[in-house]
Amino acid sequence: MSGAGQGSGADGVVTVAALSAAEAAEEWQRIAGQVARANRAYHTKDAPEISDADYDALKRRLQEIEARFPDLASADSPTQQIGAAPSETFAKVRHSVRMLSLGNAFSPEDIEDFDDRIRRYLNLGPDALLTYTAEPKIDGLSLSLRYENGVLVQAATRGDGETGENVTENARTIADIPENLTNAPELLEVRGEVYMSHEDFAALNERQSETGGKTFANPRNAAAGSLRQLDARITASRPLRFFAYSWGELSEPLGETQMAAVGRLKALGFQTNPLTQDCDGPKALLEVYAEIEQKRATLGYDIDGVVYKVNDLGLQQRLGFRSTTPRWAIAHKFPAELAWTRLEKIEIQVGRTGALSPVARLTPVTVGGVVVSNATLHNEDYIAGRDAKGNAIRDGKDIREGDWVQVYRAGDVIPKIADVDLSKRPDDAHPYTFPALCPECGSDAVREEGDAVRRCTGGLICPAQAVEKLKHFVSRGAFDIEGLGAKQIEMFYTDKALPIREPADIFTLARRDAANLTKLKNRDGFGERSVSNLFQAIEEKRKIALNRLIYALGIRHVGESSANLIARHYGSWTAFEAAMTGAIIGEGQEWDDLLAVDGVGSVMAASLVNTFHQDAERASIDRLVAELDVQDVERPRTEGSPVAGKTVVFTGSLEKMTRAEAKARAEALGAKVSGSVSAKTDLVVAGPGAGSKAKQAEALGIEMIDEDAWLRLIGA
Ligand code: IVH
Repeated sequence: MSGAGQGSGADGVVTVAALSAAEAAEEWQRIAGQVARANRAYHTKDAPEISDADYDALKRRLQEIEARFPDLASADSPTQQIGAAPSETFAKVRHSVRMLSLGNAFSPEDIEDFDDRIRRYLNLGPDALLTYTAEPKIDGLSLSLRYENGVLVQAATRGDGETGENVTENARTIADIPENLTNAPELLEVRGEVYMSHEDFAALNERQSETGGKTFANPRNAAAGSLRQLDARITASRPLRFFAYSWGELSEPLGETQMAAVGRLKALGFQTNPLTQDCDGPKALLEVYAEIEQKRATLGYDIDGVVYKVNDLGLQQRLGFRSTTPRWAIAHKFPAELAWTRLEKIEIQVGRTGALSPVARLTPVTVGGVVVSNATLHNEDYIAGRDAKGNAIRDGKDIREGDWVQVYRAGDVIPKIADVDLSKRPDDAHPYTFPALCPECGSDAVREEGDAVRRCTGGLICPAQAVEKLKHFVSRGAFDIEGLGAKQIEMFYTDKALPIREPADIFTLARRDAANLTKLKNRDGFGERSVSNLFQAIEEKRKIALNRLIYALGIRHVGESSANLIARHYGSWTAFEAAMTGAIIGEGQEWDDLLAVDGVGSVMAASLVNTFHQDAERASIDRLVAELDVQDVERPRTEGSPVAGKTVVFTGSLEKMTRAEAKARAEALGAKVSGSVSAKTDLVVAGPGAGSKAKQAEALGIEMIDEDAWLRLIGA
């Protein structure tokens, strides 16, 4: 109760009216700090330190002080923050079962490939019956509803898939979401899409513009904006709807097939999409796609494709997931919307890996409800009308400044240019000359054999590369430092007194010595409080998960999901660093081991190894890691697993499952699967035709078993 005492006025605390200006300022400072700390504990650590009532009392006291001393009511006062940054003010919810996204398909061939991949993974012949479901892909936002004993106890948005926002009170206002269920499993998480109908969207926008409120670009934004309201009464006034199509944690299965499980959700009282149906194979899926596409305009709500799922839930379970998407489902997207506009200028941006990326600056145009003013031009070949192999694209038409171009958006990706109208080309338009020097640092920009992209050779001396690397370092999937975003990085990079030139500088900056504090405060946007908040936010990130660190390094080709898999494979920074240092490109145990990581191919592997063998890069990484406390990867829950922590090698052909499935299953049980046999190998599973690896295992005296023994061992 320490906080409330100061603010309550009931236990001898001086009333605001009696405070001098200096006392008010001093007290304001102290309470603002307490509120900021409480906010952080509540939102980022999900561990509230004070009660809601105490928190409210602190905020009331701040408001009272600000009412009397308005100078103290700055824009970053905690009293101003609720309306300004709603996403920061919902409590976080960790999903018990991750909320995944879907891989995308755009053509009939992609669907054939999807079916082939699944058949190969499951070892099914081309003629074996494999049933799928097809259903519209609703263009809204996903929501997970948790029911305990039939009562709705929590609703959470997807967020980053692992952690979402708690929007329970808001979800309760949606008519399609039942508060109570009868005959439901004891524990049931229902997942689906919140959306707004075309009719309701139009009416809402009309109402909003009449009352001077914010209007929305499309129904999806309207649905998201309405669900994520801090005041549930606002959500209640917005006509949101919900389709159930999936589930998370369950105390008992909902059925044996996707169709049956969705049927059960319907029987429990949820809205399920009436166009959901089952199909035997890709041909039938494509027929349903055509049927749904044809109905698209008359559905009354936005859909952006058709989702296909393997119908048999047992097979879904065997197929499992690839980092963020299920192997058993795919979204077949509708073609993107198109619009014509003028290309005003071509500009070159330099990225963190030195890539020179041409960007088209366009006369703004609306494409599918969104205003577009930039489009990617990919690389110099693309501008010239050629693909990577030198074949003509757009019938060989090049792109010039002043051209009339057709723009499209596919999903959430950056807009692209589909076509050029030569009949509208200005007479003075000339072919674009791609720069051979980096426009940022003047170093040579070279294009290596086989690379479509021209790259600046300036490395860390190129300010654009250094700044982009830093921006990547602090970005959401990386260190995600509150208060240190792209804007602040640009400011600090050029700062004379306290420059941040490389990641390690962020952490040396945050050492709370008085000199740094004084240098920082009183400059644009920084008061004493914001400096101390920033330092605290940095301090909190000294302790960092291994996968985030690997991703944050910004190594070419290493994205977020590869970083996750690499981290899981090596387990600790020490192991990872030793492996990268010891690895030689193209040979040896460390190299083979790196290639055995799911999703790591030789290009990514070479990029990783190179990074650790470049002196300047390496020194910069070492300086960074010296500042950090890198957390080992939590091993998957594998109590009782006979293979947890063991290094297993599969060799020869497997008959009951494919190599990919065997590997995924072994890893799920906590084993490390390696591509080659060494003294570190614990177990070799050898099928017919096993050759040199089996011999090596024998020579090293490593335990060797056949596939059946392996299946018995893991209890399959
Ligand atoms: S299934 C594990 N079915 O699309 C798979 N998703 O791009 C869970 N979505 O995050 C998703 N309609 O928000 C599924 N009929 C549908 C869907 C659907 C819309 C959304 C969902 C998901 C996103 C992936």
